[in-house]
Formats: sequence, structure tokens, C-alpha cells
Amino acid sequence: MHKIHVNTSKPYDIIVDNSLLDNCGSIIKDVTSADKIVVVTDDIVDSLYSDTVVKSLENTGFNVKKYVFPNGEASKCFNTLNELYDFLALNEITRTDCLVALGGGVVGDLTGYAAATFLRGIDFVQIPTTLLAQVDSSIGGKTAIDIPAGKNLVGAFKQPNIVICDISTLSTLTPHIFSDGMGEVVKYAMIRSSKLFDILIKSDAKDNLEEIICQCIDIKRQIVENDEFDKGERMLLNFGHTFGHAIEKAQNYSGLSHGSAVAVGMCIVTELAVKKGLCSEGAYTELKECLKKYALPISVDISNEELAKHCVNDKKRTSDIINIVIATDIGKSELRKIPINSII
Ligand SMILES: NC(=O)c1ccc[n+]([C@@H]2O[C@H](COP(=O)([O-])OP(=O)(O)OC[C@H]3O[C@@H](n4cnc5c(N)ncnc54)[C@H](O)[C@@H]3O)[C@@H](O)[C@H]2O)c1
Repeated sequence: MHKIHVNTSKPYDIIVDNSLLDNCGSIIKDVTSADKIVVVTDDIVDSLYSDTVVKSLENTGFNVKKYVFPNGEASKCFNTLNELYDFLALNEITRTDCLVALGGGVVGDLTGYAAATFLRGIDFVQIPTTLLAQVDSSIGGKTAIDIPAGKNLVGAFKQPNIVICDISTLSTLTPHIFSDGMGEVVKYAMIRSSKLFDILIKSDAKDNLEEIICQCIDIKRQIVENDEFDKGERMLLNFGHTFGHAIEKAQNYSGLSHGSAVAVGMCIVTELAVKKGLCSEGAYTELKECLKKYALPISVDISNEELAKHCVNDKKRTSDIINIVIATDIGKSELRKIPINSII
């Protein structure tokens, strides 16, 4: 078992191993004094894993309730949140009780936001079950819901009490959802670690999942510890995301999924960096090879003008300057401020 300690304003551990769900009750008992636990999950994850989690929690003596909502990004909204608040109130959840987010990034973001706001904040545990959630969304304390004006526009920083990464849960992911998570894994390698990039190129990620997940978590840990509230270095995690978000928006969130859009976004921004002489053609070729290897797209059929229009609506924009992350080589990245009109 790997234990990675995150030294943020509220410190916590991330534990990574196989078959942790069976034992999650006693792990959670060590980090909360709650009597009641509400397991929040979506319908797909519910059918796969909640029995094991609920049984383990009950065996440890917790009074367990379960709230299930339909899977998918569309559920990360005020309607689901309001229903969850009602469920918590109806079940007399108190300030010392605890929410457990069992699922992917949608479950984690929504549950985290509910935990940040219900009764002005209650305990919360992340049990991420997608690759994306294990390497990215469950770590660092960003929680949010979507509103009609845009994704993740309402949210809060709320660090969990613990993150329990059970790698064996990834075995039930569809190939597409696994690939989507690989988009974020490649991102970590590009921004911080040529060593991780080598592993991705020279072996099959599925054969080295534990090592890869731990390396990604450790990269995010370092960045979040340095910049918990996203004022500088943490923006490096947005590599590929400015164009990725623009693609998702241009396709009305019904085209490429997030990890695939980020993959194309990394290619667009790296091509831009090559053109400006900031990155070598060789590094760009390696990036494309790695993305193709993990069944991720490297281009999309949307005009530059259309993409630029959606980029300028990016919420990370301040005045007429946009912060953009450039990989200057494999494993090296920097934040650049560039005028909006020079994006493409
Ligand atoms: N908070 C952050 O820092 C952060 C970072 C990155 C992304 N996010 C958010 O994360 C969300 C995307 O997360 P995601 O890709 O995990 O999506 P998701 O939660 O929608 O999960 C994708 C699909 O996989 C299913 N699933 C989950 N675990 C499974 C398993 N073990 N086996 C089989 N199916 C399983 C889900 O039911 C869902 O249908 C977005 O809302 C994004 O904004 C947040």
C-alpha cells in the first residue's frame, strides 16, 4: 500500500492499493468521528461497488445511508445538489457526520461541494473509481457544480479527510473512459516528468497502473501544496485545457469527452509553441505518438476561428491577456501570458 501525505491547509493522506473497498470502514473510522455516513454515488458505480462499501462501513459501526443519482456530467448540477441537501436534512445529518463520494469526478465534485456547504461544512471522504478521478479530481480540494452559463462555475475549496484509491475498481471501466483518464496522465508527464513519459511510451500503462497513478498523484500533491488556491503554479495543471474546454464548448459538450478534448488541446498548444520556437518539433511528435498509443485523438475538425472564439470565454482569462500553459519539452512546462488575439 502506498500512502501519500498532502500538506495543505487541512492535511490528509491519499492511500493507493488494490482491494481497499473491503476495508474502507476501518480506514474511514480513523479519520472521522461521524456516527452517520452518507455514501453518495451514481447508478453505475452503485451497481458495482456500493454493496461492498456499505457493508464495510456498517461492519465498522457506522449508521449508513446511501444517495444515488444518474451517472453523467448532466447530474453535476443544482437539481441533484438540492435533492442531496434535502436527503441530508431528512436523514438528520449533523455537523459531525460525513459524506463519502464513491465514483468518478462527477460524484467527487458534487459531493465535495455539498460537504463544503451543508451546515457550513462537514467531513468528506473521496473514494475515486475512475482513472481521471484517482489521478486528478479527487486530489487538491477543488469541488464544483455546473450551471447553464458554464462548467464548474459554482464551487468551493474543500479538502477531503482522506482519499482511498482502490486500483482494482478501474478494471470495470470501459476502454473509452480509461483512455479519457490517460489524457490527464499524459498531461502530468508533459508538464513535470520525462520519467513518467518514458514509462508511458516504453510500456503499457495497464501493466504499471500503481506506479503511474502514484507518480501522477505525487505531481499533483507538489503543485497543490505550493499553490493550494490556484493563484500561480497550480495553473500548470491546465496544460491542454484552454483549447480542450474550447473544443468541449464548441461541440456543446456532446462531442469529445473531457480527456479526449484535453488531448487535442495539448496538441494545439504544443503546435503553437513549436511555431513560436518555444518547443522542439521532436517533443511534439513524441506527444502525438503517446496520445495515439492510448487511443486519444490528436486533432479535431473545428476551425481556428471557432476555437479562438470559445477560448476567449475561458474563465481563466483576466482582461485581454490569457494565461496559457506551454510545454517547452517533455516534462517541462511554464505559464505564459499572451494577448488573446495571438492565440491562433
Ligand atoms: N475537482 C477537480 O480538480 C477536477 C479535475 C478534473 C476533472 N474534474 C471533473 O471530473 C469530472 C469527470 O470525471 P470522470 O471522468 O471520472 O467522469 P464521471 O464521474 O462522469 O465518470 C465517467 C463514467 O464512468 C462511470 N464509472 C465510474 N467509475 C466506474 C468504474 N469503476 N467502473 C465502471 N464505470 C465507472 C460513471 O458512472 C460515469 O458513467 C468532470 O465533471 C470534471 O469537471 C474535476
